[in-house]
Amino acid sequence: MKKFTCVQDIGDLREAVAEALEIKRDRFQFTGLGRNRTLLMLFFNSSLRTRLSTQKAAMNLGMNVMVLDVTQGAWKLETERGVVMDGDKAEHLLEAIPVMGSYCDVIGVRSFARFRDKAEDYEERILEQFIRHSGRPVFSMEAATRHPLQSFADLITIEEHRRVERPKVVMTWAPHPNALPQAVPNSFAEWMNAADYDFVITHPEGYELAPEFVGRARVEYDQRKALEGADFVYAKNWAAWADPNYGKVLSRDRSWTVDDEKMALTNDAFFMHCLPVRRNMIVTDSVIESPRSLVIPEAANREISAQVVLKRLLEGLQ
Ligand code: CP
Repeated sequence: MKKFTCVQDIGDLREAVAEALEIKRDRFQFTGLGRNRTLLMLFFNSSLRTRLSTQKAAMNLGMNVMVLDVTQGAWKLETERGVVMDGDKAEHLLEAIPVMGSYCDVIGVRSFARFRDKAEDYEERILEQFIRHSGRPVFSMEAATRHPLQSFADLITIEEHRRVERPKVVMTWAPHPNALPQAVPNSFAEWMNAADYDFVITHPEGYELAPEFVGRARVEYDQRKALEGADFVYAKNWAAWADPNYGKVLSRDRSWTVDDEKMALTNDAFFMHCLPVRRNMIVTDSVIESPRSLVIPEAANREISAQVVLKRLLEGLQ
């Protein structure tokens, strides 16, 4: 594998999940693969799970790991070409990227949507510059439009817990105080469609996702109707995608919060969320603490999804 930014990069999903479960049985079986190889993890945005799980996955493979918080301690970076750099930005990304590439073998990048310009976000201009100019295999640790390491971990978790061949998976919008990117819901939709589950998306009007991510999913505006018979409930907030409201919060309606009454409509569904989660906005204490909540095993599977991806990127170097 030469890069990992979307579901297509992982290839056959059954093979990928089988490889993940094999690694989970013994996560130290490939410790020689990363010997004398260095992973550089670059964070333009905060992280708890991605940082720790990806670092742990790299260590399981015997890699050396360097982590840089780009906005703390590094020179402030200019990202636009053609700018007269007479302001506070001391270095251009076009020099910084190949320099960083010269110190490592694999690069992971976290760079969220900035909500300044929809085209800039949806063209993945930061991530694409790393792919083009670093000279190294690049993987996304959540970019502007997708979070594939999270979605792969979500898929592994569903495969471990599904009780039927084709479970009903419902992704529901839920309220949040701030404007959040569409990367997690876009990516989850992309992976659920690829897995060919019975996939339903529910959200208030105005929160439609980009059609290329909705794909074959059914969209149901009535949350209660959508949840009927669900085997998995995946809650997430996102800001509006459609123009003219791109990046805006249109609702903080707490009648969309996932609570016990909503979960009672389901087929004894498991509850999922990528974390971090705002309790009693997205989901009630009672639901997230219930035995049907998978949020902790889901987060734990982030180590496994990262390890499959790093293993394949390392194999691609040889
Ligand atoms: N789910 C997730 O990516 O968590 P972090 O933002 O903490 O990395």
